[in-house]
Amino acid sequence: MTERISIAIDGPAAAGKSTIAKIVAESLGYAYIDTGAMYRALTWKAQQQQIDATDGERLAALLRGMTIELKPSPSGQLVYVDGEDVTDVIRTPKVTNAVSQVATHEPVRERMVELQRSIGEAGAVVMDGRDIGTAVLPFAQLKIFMTASVEERAERRYAENKSRGIETPLEELKEEIRKRDRLDTEREHSPLVQAEDALLIDTTGRTIEEVAHEIEQLAKERIAK
Ligand code: DC
Repeated sequence: MTERISIAIDGPAAAGKSTIAKIVAESLGYAYIDTGAMYRALTWKAQQQQIDATDGERLAALLRGMTIELKPSPSGQLVYVDGEDVTDVIRTPKVTNAVSQVATHEPVRERMVELQRSIGEAGAVVMDGRDIGTAVLPFAQLKIFMTASVEERAERRYAENKSRGIETPLEELKEEIRKRDRLDTEREHSPLVQAEDALLIDTTGRTIEEVAHEIEQLAKERIAK
């Protein structure tokens, strides 16, 4: 019987992954790792240093020389870059609009996968991203591929942004989500695809609690094996 399974949750932007992954992690007493935040942290640092989002080699070198820490807190996961709290700034449109481009580069992805695997391989982890079930934790005992309609995802992003004091028109968010979907699914290295052994969950019209509960049940079945 395995008690410390790894759970991989992949899917497109704003499908509900991080909110649901957090709840599942908390209920199982597991760590929650938001890998998108790591790509965002790199994007933020690159912008600070005027490194272009198209320059894969310089981005990878920057990543090798910086530290990214993810720390749980009562208000959610905090993200630190070289000791500086970047939790909020990595969610601004400036970072959001550049992160998919940063994530296309093979040397960047190689290093990220290495970092994420070292965090996740001990188990007792819920990790969300785009390539967790396929590249980071291919051995994960439970893999979920989470989707939702573009309309619903844009509405969720709208509400999330608003709660952070950022006002973005809904139409703009829909366009941004479509664009990121294209970049994430069409990139050459580790594109967003459903792992063969992943379970597809469409969250359109479903509540967060419902989906979290379904995943917890699936996890408990795997843990009991
Ligand atoms: O989940 P998010 O919106 O914070 O992710 C930000 C970007 O990072 C997204 O455009 C895709 C990329 N990403 C990735 O390529 N691989 C991951 N494991 C996580 C995120």
